Amino acid sequence: MTGFPRDQWYVAAYSSEIGPELFSRTICAEPILFWRTRSGQVTAMSDRCVHRRFPLSQAPSRLVDDQVICGYHGFTYGADGGCTAVPGQTRIPRTARLRRYPLVEQDSLVWVFIGDPARADAARIPRAPYLDSPDYTTVAGMEPLAARFSLLVDNLLDLSHETYLHGGYIGTPEVAATPITTEVDDEAGVVHVSRHMADAECPPFYAKSTGLHGRISRWQDIEYTPPCLYKLHSRIAPVGSVPNADGSDPDAFHVEVVYAITPETEHSTHDFWAVARDFALDDQDVSAFLAENNRTVVLQDVAALNVLERVIAGEPEGYQELSINIDTGGLAARRLLRRQLDASRTPGVAS
Ligand code: FES
Ligand SMILES: [Fe+2]
Repeated sequence: MTGFPRDQWYVAAYSSEIGPELFSRTICAEPILFWRTRSGQVTAMSDRCVHRRFPLSQAPSRLVDDQVICGYHGFTYGADGGCTAVPGQTRIPRTARLRRYPLVEQDSLVWVFIGDPARADAARIPRAPYLDSPDYTTVAGMEPLAARFSLLVDNLLDLSHETYLHGGYIGTPEVAATPITTEVDDEAGVVHVSRHMADAECPPFYAKSTGLHGRISRWQDIEYTPPCLYKLHSRIAPVGSVPNADGSDPDAFHVEVVYAITPETEHSTHDFWAVARDFALDDQDVSAFLAENNRTVVLQDVAALNVLERVIAGEPEGYQELSINIDTGGLAARRLLRRQLDASRTPGVAS
């Protein structure tokens, strides 16, 4: 599948990436300019000057007192995107205004709405509260992917690839060998994929971070809200341990792995990843280990998907894939994405 659903919220950046300087990122093929104003709000507007398209993020364009001055001929814009000065005349053309994007900052993420702003409903943004909760410690990063975003969706919805692509990190034989259960909440637009391994080898990723060794109980519960937010609730515990009836789970280690899958263009993707844990909260060595190891795992996926993108780009129309049981989650995700894609092309239909 190429293309991406419009009229949707996408993660544009981590909150920590945007300060009082000009910052640009292309989201769904639209170059967007961000900065944090003196009052602390993040702005999002088109990164193209209305005059001759010069990027406003590009030097010698500059930010002065919450006004951005184009580095080509000096058109000046305020934080609301309105033009406040043009060179050589006092009359400012009525259409001299940068397109603004609806923006919400929450859970340490900056979300922008791509598409018709009239359809931007902030209540529909999926949550990832652990990312800025004091009960968790989070490590995070973002890797550029030279592949269409649907390939990353396929990859994350089918974790049986861990056994092969990530052996020695997070993959052990039990991941590929254990069947999954898939449920789709059509109303909420969420795909759930679960794999519960009652008695599995502890991969190095978890052995070194939790201190558990030998055999473990390992649960993977995926919750994907297309198009952008993917959460993997990972539970690691001694064999035989299950959560208490009241929901407490004192013997287990919980790791919340979050991906934000944001198209940059039709053939490239921003691969945001974060790992939040509820143990060893102040242990810098555990943080450094998880950050380094998760980045390695992400880069293993990036390398494989970059190859796949080139393979797909070079193949004839109509190539038929073969799908099996492990692909059930990925196929459900594709169906929801297709529905969003169709809805975003149909004026007046909410997706
Ligand atoms: S391109 Fe920006 S002022 Fe001319
Ligand atoms: Fe992977």
